[in-house]
Amino acid sequence: MTLHQDLLDEAAEALKSAYAPYSQLYVGAALRSVSGRIYSGCNVENGSFSIGNCAERNAIAAAVRAEGAAFALTAIAICATDRASQALPIPPCGACRQMIREFGANAEVLFMGAEGQLVQTQIDELLPHGFSLPV
Ligand code: THU
Repeated sequence: MTLHQDLLDEAAEALKSAYAPYSQLYVGAALRSVSGRIYSGCNVENGSFSIGNCAERNAIAAAVRAEGAAFALTAIAICATDRASQALPIPPCGACRQMIREFGANAEVLFMGAEGQLVQTQIDELLPHGFSLPV
């Protein structure tokens, strides 16, 4: 497995743009498209809490906007800090796992685990038996 240091760096850069006044959890995600291009996103919260969005899904939205419906991803890295810029563990939430899987059935996923270690795994490890529409 490749260590996607460029994605980890870009995710760390993206979290600096996060709008997270409510949780004060600043999240960045960066993904590599099959095209080789990198797209990133940050979390964007809202006073109407449920309409906020995660960094991973915002990165995917940016990629779809740039590359269109044929976009697919090979890897995604996620980073988070608190407001003191202390790195925090951030496994992707369930909704983001579902969204990652739809655009990258074999995607590698990198994030900080509960003990502060780098976790590098596959989306089907994180989301076994994931949903897709029956054809
Ligand atoms: N968040 C993400 O950006 N990605 C995840 O996978 C989990 C949670 C954000 C959403 C919200 O702005 C903050 O973290 C606290 O839940």
